[in-house]
Amino acid sequence: MGRVDGKVAIVTGAAQGLGEADARLLAAEGARVIMTDIDDERGWTIAQEIGADYLHQDVSDEDGWNVLMDHVISGYDELDILVNNAGIAIIADIETTTTEQWRRTLAVHLDSTFWGCQHAVNAMKERGGSIINMSSVVALQGSANYLAYAAAKGGIRSMTKSVAAHCRARGYRIRCNSVHPGSINTAMVQAALEHSAGIKITEAEDPEALRLQLGIGEPLDIANMVLFLASDDAKHVNGTELVVDNGATNILSAG
Ligand SMILES: NC(=O)c1ccc[n+]([C@@H]2O[C@H](COP(=O)([O-])OP(=O)(O)OC[C@H]3O[C@@H](n4cnc5c(N)ncnc54)[C@H](O)[C@@H]3O)[C@@H](O)[C@H]2O)c1
Repeated sequence: MGRVDGKVAIVTGAAQGLGEADARLLAAEGARVIMTDIDDERGWTIAQEIGADYLHQDVSDEDGWNVLMDHVISGYDELDILVNNAGIAIIADIETTTTEQWRRTLAVHLDSTFWGCQHAVNAMKERGGSIINMSSVVALQGSANYLAYAAAKGGIRSMTKSVAAHCRARGYRIRCNSVHPGSINTAMVQAALEHSAGIKITEAEDPEALRLQLGIGEPLDIANMVLFLASDDAKHVNGTELVVDNGATNILSAG
C-alpha cells in the first residue's frame, strides 16, 4: 500500500523541478496524478514515464482552471490533493521592478493559488482533502532581489491560513498548508546562483559535491514534505507553514 493509494492529485508546474519531484513521488506512492504545465513536451514525457495524466495549463489563466477541473471531475469523479506549485522568479528589486513584472509575478503565483484553492474547496468539501501551496522562505524574510516574488509568496502564506480557517469553521475536513523551501537544486535556483554569484552548478566538476557544499537541498527533500501533507499521516496538520531549508532561516542566524 502506498501512502496516498488511490487518491486523486493535481500538481501544477509539474514538468520539471519541484513539481516533477512531487508528481513522481505521489505517483510512486499510489496516487492518480494529473500533472499540468505550459511545457507540454517535458510534461507529457514525464507523465508517460510515471503513468500520470497530463494537461496543458497556464495557471495564470482563469479559464484554464475551469477546463482542468472539468477534466478532473468528469474523468476521476473526485479530487483529494492539490499542489499549487507552478512559479516564476523574476530578478528585480524595488527600484527596478516594472509594473508588468509585478503583475505577471502576482498572476502566476497569487491569482493561480486563489483559483486553485477556490476550485479545490468546491471539489473537496463533501469528502475532505489536502491543499498544499508552494511558498518560500522569502515569505518569512523578504528578499532584496526578488521583490514581487517575495510579495507573492507572503500572500500565499496568509491565503493558506485563511483557506484553512474557513474550511475548519465549515467542518469541511479540508486541510490547507504552505511549504517554504530554502534553496533547492532546480533550474530556478541555478539561474539565481548564476546571477548572484556567477556559479553554474551543472557545469561544476562534481555538481553534487558543490550542491552539498553550498547547502542547497534536492527536489526530493520538498517532495517528501508534500507527500506527508498529502497523506493521512498529516491529518492533524492544518493552516501551518512547513519550512524545509535545513535550518537556514531559523537557526543559522543564531550562530
Ligand atoms: N527551487 C527552489 O529553491 C524554490 C525555493 C522556494 C520556493 N520555490 C517554489 O517552488 C515552485 C517550483 O519551483 P522550481 O524551483 O521547481 O522552479 P522551475 O523553474 O524549475 O519549475 C517551474 C515549473 O513551473 C512551470 N510554469 C511556469 N509558469 C507557469 C504557468 N504560468 N503555468 C503553468 N506552469 C508554469 C514551468 O514550466 C516549470 O515546469 C515555485 O512556486 C517556486 O517559487 C522554489
